[in-house]
Amino acid sequence: MAIYEIKGGKPLHGSVTISGAKNAAVAIIPAAILVRGKCRVENVPDISDVRILLDILRDLGAKVAQPEPGVVELDCSNIKKTHPNPELVRKMRASYYLMGALLSRFGRAEVALPGGCNFASRPIDQHIKGFTALGADVEETEDYVNLKPGMNGLRGNRVSLDVVSVGATMNIIMAGCLIPGTTIIENAAKEPHIVDLANFLNTMGANISGAGTDTVKIRGVTLLSGGSYAIIPDQIEAGTYIAAVAAAGGNVLVENVIPKHMECITSKLQEMGATIINYDDSIRIMCDKRLRNATVKTRPYPGFPTDMQAQICVCMTLADGVSRLTESVYETRFFGYCSELTSMGADILINGKTAIVTGTQTLHGATVRAKDLRAGAALVIAGLAAEGTTYVENIVYIERGYERIVEKLSALGADIKRIEE
Ligand code: EPU
Repeated sequence: MAIYEIKGGKPLHGSVTISGAKNAAVAIIPAAILVRGKCRVENVPDISDVRILLDILRDLGAKVAQPEPGVVELDCSNIKKTHPNPELVRKMRASYYLMGALLSRFGRAEVALPGGCNFASRPIDQHIKGFTALGADVEETEDYVNLKPGMNGLRGNRVSLDVVSVGATMNIIMAGCLIPGTTIIENAAKEPHIVDLANFLNTMGANISGAGTDTVKIRGVTLLSGGSYAIIPDQIEAGTYIAAVAAAGGNVLVENVIPKHMECITSKLQEMGATIINYDDSIRIMCDKRLRNATVKTRPYPGFPTDMQAQICVCMTLADGVSRLTESVYETRFFGYCSELTSMGADILINGKTAIVTGTQTLHGATVRAKDLRAGAALVIAGLAAEGTTYVENIVYIERGYERIVEKLSALGADIKRIEE
């Protein structure tokens, strides 16, 4: 097992290049199943979730090549299997996209229930509601979802989501691509990675409109035939580095970002006292003084992302005054990291959906444990900002979603090492 050793208290300086978006990549790779032909995908992050998905596709019979770093070529023309390896499927969350992709291409799928970060109850009833509305017969067992065409076959239909769900929106988009008729998703999620998935599929020959609004329309086509596509930069990875500079201090140019996607995050940090300068595809963050308290409520895009809750919480622990941080997507997410931050000297009181964070003068190093991806990222930020040495255990979660985090932070002047225990 490896851990990170962080000697904190050093401001960050220099520039960091953001990788392709994890939550777009983990949808686009399974979406390649819909394509009969070669897809060249660029700006693919080298993270463990991506590596698992590529193994799943190889096992299904796809040809997978990685001709250069960040580029993946996928050819799923000869896939015949509709039962992806359950052990691999259970290693991650986004493997649920195999359901929509296999159903659309083959009319059937037998997919184990996904695993991944377990910071809350994460039902998939809205995905199932969508597949059922499209005419699938869905059998759910304790650990599997089996999909096949119902009596009247698969056909596009209207699906109104009861909750705004990123995963359900993407899964129903995939399911609608290759079936006859038009699928309309109402109350759809609007995250940038949904637009990215739709752009990828349209580049391959799909007919999807409205992605990025709350109504997405998918007109079924008979063939997706291949092409080349570059994944957008990762909004949350960028937000994590920006939060790290806000907490630890410094002056960093964050490159390869879409500043519009970052507004929900940068506007809060500006309010807290950081200086932010937006360029065309980069953002400079400067922070040389104590932050101010803030009130933040997580919401689906374009609101403040739940995936940045833990990172901004660290900033709040070091800000003047009392901050309020309310979670409206995953209520139990605080439990992944707040007690660890408390062991580093933070003052956090959880009251239902709200964390009341009273800023302290300093955090101090401790041995802490990552319980999920973003919780782990927050502990790294806390370690960078703290006095003394922090050991972060269970970093397997962090490496699920952050490409070369140790190298990137070291290049900014952080004293962080990955140690094999
Ligand atoms: N929900 C349901 N039923 C469903 C689906 C969702 O009740 O069928 C609820 C969830 O319980 C939650 C809310 O709807 O309260 C939103 O969940 P959503 O479906 O949007 O989440 P997800 O698709 O499972 C993705 C990201 C998460 C991110 C959320 C919210 C991927 C692979 N995961 O999860 O990312 O937190 O959207 O933005 O795209 C991360 O990157 O660390 C991460 C956890």
